[in-house]
Amino acid sequence: DLLEARPRDLTGRHVVVSAGGTREFLDPVRFLGNRSSGRQGYALAEAAVSRGARVTVVAANVELPVPAGVDVVPVVSTEELRQQVHAASAGADAVVMAAAPADFRPAEHVDAKIKKTDDGTTPEIRLVENPDILVELVAARGAAGARPVIVGFAAETGDATATVLEHARAKLARKGCDLLVVNDVSDGKVFGLDTTEAVLLGADGTVVEVPPASKSVLAHSIWDAVVQRLD
Ligand code: CTP
Ligand code: CA
Repeated sequence: DLLEARPRDLTGRHVVVSAGGTREFLDPVRFLGNRSSGRQGYALAEAAVSRGARVTVVAANVELPVPAGVDVVPVVSTEELRQQVHAASAGADAVVMAAAPADFRPAEHVDAKIKKTDDGTTPEIRLVENPDILVELVAARGAAGARPVIVGFAAETGDATATVLEHARAKLARKGCDLLVVNDVSDGKVFGLDTTEAVLLGADGTVVEVPPASKSVLAHSIWDAVVQRLD
């Protein structure tokens, strides 16, 4: 309810949110990208401002109006996102990695446009893996329970080997963050919807189910869980 006063329970806190999808350029005009719009990240930023936080958003290729009161740092590639997230996170109380960083980047970036050839040969694009920013944030923090509180996102599908929640639990353990926001994207549940259904998995074993709701409502549920871990 927009008229209902939110608790100002992030007053005096600095929070960092990453948003959007990174792009990895092959040449001056072409890139590998993904469909992340940045809307969940911006909803998180707006919600945090309304709860009194100072908010920095590291925004990868987000084409949305900047929420009032938010500091936006625009980036393009995963490497830029990495540098800006680490810089912004020094001394922060919480970091939420809502961005979709490209997992791989082209091994080579060429300064001139790749041209077609007459002999019908096609270019081979070799990829190398990008660093995992979330894992780096956890490693840089040191002891669990120290600041910042670190939150990851995961869009998962069930498959022959494991359910959505089993994949998510494994990811939470692998990443070492405090909270994982899990979206079930099985059965063609598509990107770009206005409502999101999620499960918040805590490293401490807690499970919070957020029924289908707006990105803003989900954002507030995520900050509720962060505030519990800050106090
Ligand atoms: N993430 C990150 N750095 C990367 C890749 C992902 O910080 N290079 C973060 C995302 O922002 C998200 C979380 O890690 O918060 C999980 O992302 P996801 O793509 O689900 O995890 P991956 O480890 O890349 O696993 P997958 O093979 O399922 O893509
Ligand atoms: Ca990934």
